[in-house]
Amino acid sequence: MDHAVMGPTYHEMLHPETLPTALRQKALAARANELDPANLFNITWKAPDNSVRHVVLPKEWTGVDANIVVLLGRDFPSGSHKVGPAYVTLMEGELAGEISQSENTIIGPSTGNFGIGVAYISKLKGYKAVVIMPEQMSAERYERIKKYGGSLDLTPGSESDVILVLERTEHYKKDPRNKILAQFELLPNYRFHRYVTGGSALEAARLHGNGRVAAFVSAPGSAGTIAAGDEIKAAFPESIICALEPHECSTLFNNGRGVHRIEGIGDKMVTLIHNVLTTDYVMLIHDDDCVMGLELIENQQSTLERSLGMQAGALRSLRGMFGISGICNILGSIRMAKHLGLGPDDNVVTIATDGFDRYPSVMDNLKQRKGAVTEPVVHEWFEKVYRGGSPADILDVRSREQKDRLFAYKQDVWTKFNYSLDYLNSMKSQAFWESEYAKIAEIDAAVSRKRELTAAKS
Ligand SMILES: Cc1ncc(COP(=O)(O)O)c(C=O)c1O
Repeated sequence: MDHAVMGPTYHEMLHPETLPTALRQKALAARANELDPANLFNITWKAPDNSVRHVVLPKEWTGVDANIVVLLGRDFPSGSHKVGPAYVTLMEGELAGEISQSENTIIGPSTGNFGIGVAYISKLKGYKAVVIMPEQMSAERYERIKKYGGSLDLTPGSESDVILVLERTEHYKKDPRNKILAQFELLPNYRFHRYVTGGSALEAARLHGNGRVAAFVSAPGSAGTIAAGDEIKAAFPESIICALEPHECSTLFNNGRGVHRIEGIGDKMVTLIHNVLTTDYVMLIHDDDCVMGLELIENQQSTLERSLGMQAGALRSLRGMFGISGICNILGSIRMAKHLGLGPDDNVVTIATDGFDRYPSVMDNLKQRKGAVTEPVVHEWFEKVYRGGSPADILDVRSREQKDRLFAYKQDVWTKFNYSLDYLNSMKSQAFWESEYAKIAEIDAAVSRKRELTAAKS
């Protein structure tokens, strides 16, 4: 007998106001107790008043005319939007009859936030979970996973050693009781971000400038989030989708590989679910610019406010909102706005996957490496980080030649994990992505039916 709780449909995650009133109220009340299973219905970008959680950055800070619109992921249950892909991947597996709470252990290959999401969803639904992740991620990540009752299986290295995580995952596949939520490979991740994140990004942009999206900027890890770009392009075909990478690990840029400090992104591969057809630009950002950029906005606010001529306290409301990859996305958005010559009516939309809560240990490490952050240091860092960037770090990947290079890299990675050339070739057509997206209607109908059946039985 399976007792796993059924959660929301894709449509309800985009429009939680369409949940049955009693369920929505129960979910909102459950926010006070994060382990209440009703929190499944809080997997949404929407605040209790149904507005999209987002902020438009002060122009004194960004130094550009365009509106930099940042969607905020930290208020998702478990503290990042990665809980969404974890939830839908498990939910689709349950619907297909492939995963059941009484028989299976959930395995989450990750660099942290997805693993936190997997441990959290498994806890709410009553599954055992094992998170496989590199051993050099931030201490806060491991603590969260343990707090949600997940077991950890650590592989050598850091963010850019995800291939080792995938290899370890192969070992778990040998036991059919283990069910892998394979974020780099499975299309629920694409569906969640295209439909839920993309739809929310469009709603947020409608409130600003000309209401359109001139550019969407996202640093891929699994490349789930960048799928929001497909929804944005469907609404505004002229919009530009830009993928960001660490300078130190420039895989999409020029097949480069290396170690870097931006947790959650830059995984030394073209992931299977990355629709490279719709990626227009790749931009490189130095990893320490993101770490220093976070220190400035989180811990050096009053000095910054003074030097930018802002009122004391003007930046205070931004405290806690961003993690390191969020700063990477902000830097990419500022630099893209400059590159495209965007004006005050134009919106650049980007994402803050998580908040500051999982990075104090990284800030301590920064101070150990660089010493005290004095006023002259704040000025120096601000100029370098927020006013820097070079045109040489921006690559247009719209040509056939660039797409072929990216497809070849994808093929190289994924044939090793037993994906057929036929399947990989089918991904070279936009029709593949449209048909995966179109499955949402059928999945939502099945979720609703299953919820009704469960309600009728209880
Ligand atoms: C902090 C952080 N930023 C960015 C990303 C990248 O998001 P995606 O995997 O959707 O590409 C992740 C993914 O885990 C993350 O944890």
